[in-house]
Amino acid sequence: MWDYSEQVLEHFYNPRNQGALSPADQPGVAVVYGEVGSIACGDALRLHLKIREADEIVLDASFQTFGCTSAIASSSALTEIVKGKSLDEALQVDNRAIADFLGGLPEAKMHCSVMGQEALEAAIFKYRGIEVEAHADDDGKLICKCFGISEPKIRRVIAENDLTEVEQITSYVKAGGGCGSCLADIEDLITSVQAELAAKAPAKVAAEVAIAQEQAAPPRPLTTVQKISLIQKVLDEEVRPVLLADGGDVELYDLDGDRLSVILKGACDGCASSTATVKIAIESRLRERVLPSLVVETVAPVA
Ligand code: FES
Repeated sequence: MWDYSEQVLEHFYNPRNQGALSPADQPGVAVVYGEVGSIACGDALRLHLKIREADEIVLDASFQTFGCTSAIASSSALTEIVKGKSLDEALQVDNRAIADFLGGLPEAKMHCSVMGQEALEAAIFKYRGIEVEAHADDDGKLICKCFGISEPKIRRVIAENDLTEVEQITSYVKAGGGCGSCLADIEDLITSVQAELAAKAPAKVAAEVAIAQEQAAPPRPLTTVQKISLIQKVLDEEVRPVLLADGGDVELYDLDGDRLSVILKGACDGCASSTATVKIAIESRLRERVLPSLVVETVAPVA
C-alpha cells in the first residue's frame, strides 16, 4: 500500500473536473486537449482546456485519465491549478507544482505528475499550432528504447527535480524500468546534469542574495527635485481642481527642506477658512501622497 497524502486520497475519491469539455460554442473561445501515454501501455491522460483567445486565459479545464490513484489525483490537481491562469503562466507549472499541490507523491509515483505536466504542454502546444513531436524533449538521442525516452527529457527531469539516483529517473519517467540496458547512460546523464547544476549554483545564490538585499534595503529618500515634481503633480491633479471649482487656486512658491510655501489665490486669498484649506485640502493631501513630514505654510502674493 502506497503512503498517500490526504490530498491525494481526497482528489482520488472526489476528482475535480473529470470528463471531457464540450466543444467551443462561443466566438473567441477555443477548446483543445493534450494527450500523453497510451491505455495499451499503462497510464494515459487527456487534458482538456477551454481558452479565451483574447488573453489566452484558461477558463475551464477537465481530464480523462486511465491510471492509478496518483494518476487520477495528479490530473484532478492539475485542472485546479491551471484554471484562471494564462497559457504562459500555465507553462510554468511543472511536475513539482502538481506534487506539491497534493502534499507530495510517493517517489515511485512521481511519473504521474510528469504525465500531467506533459499533457498540459501538449494541450498548449496544440492550441498554439506547435507540433508536439517538435517539442525539444522529443528531439535528441533516444536513451531508453523500452519506454521511448529521449536524452533531453531525462536531462530536464533531473534538472527540474534535482534527481541524483537512477531509480529516481525510473520513478519520474519510467526510463530504465524495462530491460535495464540504458541504466549506464542514465547514470552518465545524472553526473553530467548535476555537474551543470553545481556550476550554476554560485551565480544563482549570488543573484538571490542581490535580490534579497535590494528588497530589504530602505527606500532612498526623495531628492529636492523629486519632491518638488511630486508636490506639483499632486497640486495640479488633486488639489487645484477642487479649489478652482470654488473660485480659488494655489501656487507652489518654495520648498525649504520639508517646509513648503504656497500662495493662495482667487477666492482662497483672504478667505476666513484659508487655514483649514491649507491644513486639510493641501497639507494632509501632500503628506499622504508625497511625504508625511511636509509642513505647508502660506506666503502673501507678490505685489
Ligand atoms: S532501454 Fe531503458 S529499460 Fe530498456
